Amino acid sequence: MADLSAVAVACANIAFIKYWGNRDSRLRIPVNGSISMNLDGLFTQTRVTFRPEHEVDVLNLNRQIIGGKALERVSTILDLVRAQARLPLFAEVVSENNFPTGAGIASSAAAFAALSLAATCAAGLNVSEAELSRLARRGSGSAARSIPGGFVEWQAGESDLDSYAFSIAPPAYWDLVDLVVIVQADEKQVGSSEGHALAWASPLQEARVQDAPRRLNICRKAVLERDFDALAGVVEQDSNLMHAVMMTSNPPLFYWEPASLSVMKLIPQWRESGLAVCYTLDAGPNVHVICQADAAVEAQNRLEAIPGVKKILKASPGGAARIVKDVHPWPAQANE
Ligand code: PMV
Repeated sequence: MADLSAVAVACANIAFIKYWGNRDSRLRIPVNGSISMNLDGLFTQTRVTFRPEHEVDVLNLNRQIIGGKALERVSTILDLVRAQARLPLFAEVVSENNFPTGAGIASSAAAFAALSLAATCAAGLNVSEAELSRLARRGSGSAARSIPGGFVEWQAGESDLDSYAFSIAPPAYWDLVDLVVIVQADEKQVGSSEGHALAWASPLQEARVQDAPRRLNICRKAVLERDFDALAGVVEQDSNLMHAVMMTSNPPLFYWEPASLSVMKLIPQWRESGLAVCYTLDAGPNVHVICQADAAVEAQNRLEAIPGVKKILKASPGGAARIVKDVHPWPAQANE
């Protein structure tokens, strides 16, 4: 029998225009499109091996055997792959991140992108990038955006068939840097899957969603024209809109810590004084400070001096999810 095993690597991504709320939560069809940048150096590496001797799927995540909801989500992807490949075998999935899990660094995006690519390859399927993006979306919406490389747009679509992501510019197109300012590395309280379901409980969600095409247009144009000021304005507004929805859901979700706010208040002041920086936060307290490469050293020095900042990870635009020959020991993250 052929070797039913493959290893894939995928980057995390940071959304410039956020996905928050589903039109269909089982299929993870979002209510609005989103735009992101892949994060080079913040990876998940996943090996999938289908084996006749397995009686269930087994998930080894960051060197621990995991069951429950995490395993169920992994099996959802494996079931789709098994059905398409007509392969009636359970799998062993060994997955490792080189960054803290569950702290607003979109670990599920990298994880489900790597899982989808490794599983389809191990099962011998030949799938297009759009098909892979659709498959990854079923595990975690934002994972759809970690399949293509560089700067990526996920078109919301209306069905499973037309909801997928594609690259709008390659990684080398714009040398932006994401300084991920860690103020708390613990597992977050309310995961994004639950959070999406609460979005419509906020009276602000409708306004956020209705205005999304405008923000997407500004953001796409800013990326294509490498216009940092235009990008900064729309990225900060979009993040603030999503957090306003989160804070006014029922129950309300407050993801920020005091140190998150300290950073958020300083960044626009720094920008006004000429440093090309802006902020955005996902469903966690850590602040992603997006900057032009020539502002990164100065921004990092200033950020390190803010009380409550524990650590800063640094990432430039990352490539597409890819198959690698074998499991490699992780290179140390640049800032560790
Ligand atoms: O892919 P999920 O279900 O973990 O949702 C991600 C939601 C945000 O990170 C908050 C925003 C985004 O677009 O990445």
